[in-house]
Amino acid sequence: MVSAYAELEEDMRRRLGGRECLYVPSCRLGLYLALRHFCPRGGRVLMSPVNDDVILFVVLAAGLRPVQAPLDPRDGSIDPAAVPGSVWRGLSAVLTTNLYGNPDPAPDLRARCDLLGIPLIEDAAHAIGSTTGGRPVGTYGEAAVFSLSKHTGAKTGGFLALADPSLRADLTRARDALLHPARTASELAYLLRPGAEAAVRHLRLTGAARAALRALGREEREEIRMPLRADALARALPAAPALAPFHSWIRVDMHDYRIRPGAARLRRTRARLARLDTVLAAHREGTARLLESEYGPGGGPAQPLFRVPLLVEDRDAAVAALARHRITVGYLYDPPLDTYAGGAFTDPSPAPAAAARFARHALPVDPRRAARALTALRSAGIPPALPATAPGGAR
Ligand SMILES: Cc1ncc(COP(=O)(O)O)c(C=O)c1O
Repeated sequence: MVSAYAELEEDMRRRLGGRECLYVPSCRLGLYLALRHFCPRGGRVLMSPVNDDVILFVVLAAGLRPVQAPLDPRDGSIDPAAVPGSVWRGLSAVLTTNLYGNPDPAPDLRARCDLLGIPLIEDAAHAIGSTTGGRPVGTYGEAAVFSLSKHTGAKTGGFLALADPSLRADLTRARDALLHPARTASELAYLLRPGAEAAVRHLRLTGAARAALRALGREEREEIRMPLRADALARALPAAPALAPFHSWIRVDMHDYRIRPGAARLRRTRARLARLDTVLAAHREGTARLLESEYGPGGGPAQPLFRVPLLVEDRDAAVAALARHRITVGYLYDPPLDTYAGGAFTDPSPAPAAAARFARHALPVDPRRAARALTALRSAGIPPALPATAPGGAR
């Protein structure tokens, strides 16, 4: 029987030079599957502290200890040279982030993982279409995960890509065991969602639209970071590896992250994926424009970034300036995860200054709004971030 996911998987396989791809209902579920399969229970995983907090909770749910990495102050990528030898020696895996589509140094990380005999897992949620070392992001790791909620805007779905195709059957079984059956209510809510979001964006927020979004998990953050709820998290930890005890953290922004998709959901996803190359071209063009502006680090071959992290002195003022032009800024990751979660739940970065500075000054702009965003920032007199004064980006 041809799987309902075959067409989607074939499209992604082609993009990744023939890598085996498994459809998953969300990138976060794909990441959980990969971590469970490739990492020993209780293992330590190097990851980026400037990252979605949901990812920290996925690592914890997989029964693993997050270890925060030092970052490159220019683009928030992992800085392998700044990771002390003692930290490398204790790791069970490396998880990349490819923040906003800027690639982590995968060739270097691949070589280090090979030396240590540990897996590299690539989170390419933001980086569909990005390349590094002449290859697509997502083709260096034992596993890579992609989100169809980002560039494609399907707001559902993703892929788990595997270096070893013989693992497909095992991981398909593991995925299917985690899926919840589709419920008519959630499928209907999914299909109605673009309408509800349009109401929020373009009209005055109606009570009904807000309620609909809340039910889908799209309106539950009041701050950039969700409340940690440290006591409840500490009580959940002994139950790891398992998703259910961590459900209330992992589902944030996407309540149906482990649902078996219905036919209409898959149809919409296929239509979105079919338009991806046009979307990537627009992202590439807008990225070049933003990087060349006074807020960007300058030229270079433009990747089709999901968001372009402009560096501004006063991020909150910049967010407000964009809001006045009806441009909403999302995907802020401030403070870094070690400051947010504390030593009970993660090893802190050995060199946290660059990550803190990047998190504070990065303004992630949708490259398709490049012209309007630059006009809004310039007309409000928003200054670019001052150059870092100390080596390593500390200021
Ligand atoms: C870096 C990163 N990885 C993974 C995810 C999870 O993707 P999904 O919403 O498809 O589960 C997100 C979500 O925003 C993300 O920002």
